[in-house]
Amino acid sequence: MKIIVSAAVSIDGYLDDASPERLVLSNREDWDEVMQLRAQCDAILVGASTLRSDNPALVTKSDELRRLRVNNGKAPDPVKVTITGTGDLDPGLRFFTEGDGRKIVIANAEADTVKLARLSPLAAIKRLDTITAQGVADYLHRKGISTLMVEGGSQTLTMFFSEGMVGELRLAVAPFFVGDSSAPRLVGNGIFPFNPQRRMVLAGVRKVGDMAVMHYRLGDER
Ligand SMILES: NC(=O)c1ccc[n+]([C@@H]2O[C@H](COP(=O)([O-])OP(=O)(O)OC[C@H]3O[C@@H](n4cnc5c(N)ncnc54)[C@H](OP(=O)(O)O)[C@@H]3O)[C@@H](O)[C@H]2O)c1
Repeated sequence: MKIIVSAAVSIDGYLDDASPERLVLSNREDWDEVMQLRAQCDAILVGASTLRSDNPALVTKSDELRRLRVNNGKAPDPVKVTITGTGDLDPGLRFFTEGDGRKIVIANAEADTVKLARLSPLAAIKRLDTITAQGVADYLHRKGISTLMVEGGSQTLTMFFSEGMVGELRLAVAPFFVGDSSAPRLVGNGIFPFNPQRRMVLAGVRKVGDMAVMHYRLGDER
């Protein structure tokens, strides 16, 4: 499976600030590119905390992109996937209510059965004993997903990067500081296969409006 991470960070590496409102890091041009990238993928995954804090819809907003997907034999929207250890997700979240595409909740063994039951009319529920990036990828691959875009947040990215499951990284850097160590960074603490001894391949750097967009290759397709 090909796993692509797409994330936007501040110049000091934060995914957000520490306030309850979502920090806007992207500009219009960057956002349009992310929409195009989403439309090329079979599935988009975000962690449960991102669903709770940002309430993203994760649908293909442009009719043109939806038509393109259909012409390429795909469903109009990518499959939406989230991971949770608690099952603590409101069925009213836009993840569940918007778009006609398939929705999948991957929960670990400890997740609350009653909370998951409330979601089951809206999404397929998959229990894994323990959630790992490898386990998630194996399951989604069995479900016909060949290209997965992982959008965050920090805990989810830490898991995918530290397990060495990411093939490509699209990193958009916004031209301002957050400067608050209580805000989430791109990744948290971990042991990563890319480190001072093993560097990623920088495949491209582009100016997208006032943002710098970098593309890294992290290895063979998985
Ligand atoms: N700038 C960007 O591109 C971007 C993109 C996405 C998100 N964000 C930001 O990232 C922040 C959220 O990041 P975050 O690190 O707090 O959360 P996150 O990665 O979005 O979600 C973490 C949650 O996912 C579940 N989870 C992740 N790994 C798991 C595992 N191995 N086993 C079981 N459950 C697991 C747990 O859900 P439960 O709590 O339900 O158990 C965990 O609390 C927000 O501020 C958001 O705005 C920014």
